[in-house]
Order: sequence, then C-alpha cells, then structure tokens
Amino acid sequence: MTTTVLVTGGAGFIGSNFVHMLAELRPDWRVVNLDALTYAGNLENLKGLDGRKGYAFVHGDITKPEDVERAFTSASGAKNLFVVHFAAESHVDRSILGGLPFVNTNVVGTQVLLDASRRHGVARFVHVSTDEVYGSLGATGLFREDTPLAPNSPYSASKAGSDLLVRAAHHTHGFATLITRCSNNYGPYQFPEKFLPLMIANASEDKPIPVYGDGLYVRDWLYVRDHCEAILAVLEKGKLGEVYNIGGNNEVANIDLVKAVLKALGKPESLITYVKDRPGHDRRYAIDASKIKAEIGWAPRFTFRDALPLTIRWYQEQKDWLARVRSGAYREYYATQYGAR
Ligand code: NAD
Ligand code: DAU
Repeated sequence: MTTTVLVTGGAGFIGSNFVHMLAELRPDWRVVNLDALTYAGNLENLKGLDGRKGYAFVHGDITKPEDVERAFTSASGAKNLFVVHFAAESHVDRSILGGLPFVNTNVVGTQVLLDASRRHGVARFVHVSTDEVYGSLGATGLFREDTPLAPNSPYSASKAGSDLLVRAAHHTHGFATLITRCSNNYGPYQFPEKFLPLMIANASEDKPIPVYGDGLYVRDWLYVRDHCEAILAVLEKGKLGEVYNIGGNNEVANIDLVKAVLKALGKPESLITYVKDRPGHDRRYAIDASKIKAEIGWAPRFTFRDALPLTIRWYQEQKDWLARVRSGAYREYYATQYGAR
C-alpha cells in the first residue's frame, strides 16, 4: 500500500465516520487508528473493520510520546504518510466543569503529535478544528477564515491553542499542515451527551429534553458524512499552511431543532424543559464556506430535510448501541476484543 493515514481519535464520533468512509472511498489506503479510548472512544463504532486488511488499531494517548511512536511504527513503510488529527476532549459542558484534560489532550497532545509527525516525514497533516475558536456571532454575519480568534470556553480556548501550534509548525518549520474549522456535526455514532443524540434518546423514552436558557441559540448543522468528505478533499487538494472553514449552510435555533425532532418522533412538545443556561454560552455560530468551495470544489451534499430523518432513523435502529453507550457497557468491548493491553 503506497498511502498510509494515521488517524487520531478514530474511535470517536467524527473519527469513526471518517475511518468507515476511507474504507469505502480509498480502499487501497492503509489506516492506523490511534485512540486512547476515553469515555468518548467506542470501538463498537468500528466493529465492521476488525480484522480488515489495511486497518490497524493502536491503543494510545497522544500526550504520551511513546504511544505516538508506537502508532508511527505501525504506520511505517508507506510512500505517502498522512495524519488526520481528530483526537480531542470535545464537549463544552465538560470543559466548564474542568479545563485541565482539555489543555492536556488538545494543546499538549497536538504538540506531541506535531513533533513526531515532523520526525517521521509526514507529507500532509490535517488538524480538525472547530468554528468555536472564532467565538460568538450576533444576529448577522458569518465566520470567515480571517475572522479573529476569540474563543469563549475552556474547550474552544484549548482548540484555538492547538490551531496556533499547528500554524507555528508550518511557519517555523515549513511543516505541511492544513487546518479545518467546521460547525456542529450530526449523524451516526455521536456520543449522546451532545444535544442532538441526547434529544433523540430522551424523546424516544418520553423523558424531558433539557433546553439551555431561552433556546434561541443558533448552530449551523453539518451532516457528518459531508464533513468527512470535506476533510478528505482538504487532505488531498488543500493548499499547505491554509485554514478551511466547513459548514452546512444550515442555521437552526435549538428550540426549532427540538420541535422538529419531536414532530418526527410523534412526541409532544410538553417534553421540552427549559433549564439553567450554559455559562458563557455562545449565541450563534454560522460558517462562510465559500473558500473551500472556490479552491477545492467542496460543498455540502446533504440538507437537514434528508439527513435529519436519516439520523433519527439510525438512532432508532441502533437501540442496542445507544443502550450500551448509556449504560457504559460499550467499554467492555475493548477488553473482550483486544484483551487487557
Ligand atoms: P469525540 O469526543 O466523539 O471523540 C474524540 C475521540 O478522541 C475519542 O475516540 C477519544 O477516545 C479520543 N481521544 C481523546 N483524548 C485522547 C488522547 N489524549 N489520545 C488519543 N485519543 C484521545 O469527538 P468528535 O465529536 O468526534 O470530534 C472530533 C474532532 O472534531 C475534535 O477535534 C473536535 O474538536 C472536532 N470538532 C467536532 C465537532 C462536532 O460537532 N462534534 C465540530 C467541530 C469540530
Ligand atoms: O460548533 C462546533 C462544536 O459543536 C464542536 O467544536 C464541539 O466539539 C461540539 O460538541 C459542538 O459544540 P456545542 O456546544 O455547540 O454542541 P452541544 O451539542 O453540546 O450543544 C448544541 C447546542 O445545544 C448548544 O447551543 C447548547 C445546547 N444544549 C446542549 C445540551 C447538551 C442544550 O440546550 N441542552 C443540552 O442538554
């Protein structure tokens, strides 16, 4: 195999969708998945790939140079070696409870990975970041790649820190980096602490849906498959050293999203429960994704009208997956499948 991709965080939501997509679209690429299997990492997301030629899982932590080294050993021998870096602490609410794990993984881990990637002659390094680094929008306007960074939560501040380290690796060392910044993803395999799977799961069981504050916060929803295709396009065609915004052209207020999900599930709006707001809650995110369209030719293929029902159906059909995630039973899978390594 001439191309190997080291994917970090491939057992999480977006990473696992990306690994599945590579198996489908780039079947001749070798994929090495380095993941620490935190609470958000679930190898059941990748079950179909176990034992597949060209796929290897490495259990390890990006903050530990020796773990990263093991992953590169597993990835060695390719003509083209790429890195796509998803691994992160990703939940804003958890970062409000405690910022340190976010600094460790998102900042320290990214630097460890950059250093090792340079040493191993990585040809292209894609850093998967977020629109949250730009802070919050008012009623109008869109985030562009040149919007100043103004992160508001410990999560987004740690992601902005990692973006700056990636930028510095390019500027100082001429390292072949690319940064993507996307809006809120939805789709299969999302950990149900995030709002969309949480509301689908709660509504299905007639449990209350907690809506923060007045519910008028706006997010620009992006189907995860669209996001994964955009990352692949940036990996293959992006200009080194550049940042690319990725968005769904799909702004929706939280309360409207809840109502749409309740309607689709045939559940009453009386399940909506307004709760205390998230401290520092960003009011509105919306992406200007014209650069990636003009330079690379990517635009989202899915609209909410198609992909929201697909997503709701996926969670309804994957009741076992959901139950095992919610009960914590998914964590047994690693021990059964891989032993206590
Ligand atoms: P996730 O929380 O579902 O998955 C994160 C994965 O990283 C897990 O598999 C976890 O085990 C792994 N991980 C965590 N710490 C690690 C460490 N120290 N070493 C190795 N692996 C570690 O996250 P996600 O929602 O799939 O997000 C993936 C990336 O995309 C993140 O960088 C996030 O900031 C970014 N992002 C996510 C969204 C979104 O809507 N989910 C939007 C924009 C950007
Ligand atoms: O914009 C990209 C970001 O999107 C990513 O960088 C993050 O990793 C990802 O988690 C997501 O962050 P958000 O904070 O926007 O996603 P979350 O699903 O946590 O919340 C979506 C919106 O719903 C937000 O306005 C907060 C609100 N919310 C969330 C939860 C969990 C509620 O009203 N009730 C809830 O219970």
